[in-house]
Amino acid sequence: MNISPVKNYNLSFCANNVNYLRSTIDGRRKYACCYTRMFRSDLDWNLLSYYLENKYKNAQKVNVLNAACSDGSEPYSLAMILDKKIPGGKKFFPIEAFDCSKLLIDDANNGIISLSPSDVDKFDYYNLDIDDYMKPSYESVYKRSEEGSIPYFVAPVLRNKVNFSCGDILSKLSKMDNKTPNTVLLCRNMIPYLSINEISELFKLINKKLGRNSAIIIGSYDLDRLGGYIDVKMRQINFKEADLFRGSLVYEN
Ligand SMILES: C[S@@+](CC[C@H](N)C(=O)[O-])C[C@H]1O[C@@H](n2cnc3c(N)ncnc32)[C@H](O)[C@@H]1O
Repeated sequence: MNISPVKNYNLSFCANNVNYLRSTIDGRRKYACCYTRMFRSDLDWNLLSYYLENKYKNAQKVNVLNAACSDGSEPYSLAMILDKKIPGGKKFFPIEAFDCSKLLIDDANNGIISLSPSDVDKFDYYNLDIDDYMKPSYESVYKRSEEGSIPYFVAPVLRNKVNFSCGDILSKLSKMDNKTPNTVLLCRNMIPYLSINEISELFKLINKKLGRNSAIIIGSYDLDRLGGYIDVKMRQINFKEADLFRGSLVYEN
């Protein structure tokens, strides 16, 4: 088994594939790429669940925020893995998931998600039965462009574990109480959409809003982009209260 960095993101893909372009509500950036995956493979989701289980074994309640949740694949992946692998996983729910794309959040709020065959395969990989969580639907919904991708209804047992809302990461974090303890912030593969000033603002907000025993989970793309600028910034910043869990490694057979 090797460990290798994942480089699965290609900017030209974003520009050329109209299915992946969605307008955003903030008006500053016209389009963002909403590419996502169920159990996106820049993260070992089993490792993440062990990490969270251990870190929060003495916590009564954990505040889980999923910024830039796209169509819901990411918060659902987390909810299922926590539900399955962590006894007493209830303290992590509901996950507060948000994205600045209203179109994606509207579908997510309606309990609909489109899955490709490779998304479906991931359920087996993580020993989960897709029938426990999702049923194929014939609703008209935003479809991923991969051949064979179809919409699913999310079962209430999973849907009820995630609250979806529309919003920008900076305004959402600004509204949080200062120093909220036991906070897990997933902000994965979205930092490159922020300007340099916004990235600085994000780091300031993280230090102000995340309290004792918090964690930030990032993605491979957050480290690759801008010629390593973000990675360098991440290394320079000592988050006061939060650990940084880097999702940039994946196990490959
Ligand atoms: C490449 S997708 C990543 C989705 C998911 N986090 C993942 O890693 O699979 C980027 C997402 O970030 C969202 N986004 C971009 N800028 C944002 C912002 N300032 N606040 C909230 N969401 C944002 C986009 O709408 C898009 O859904």
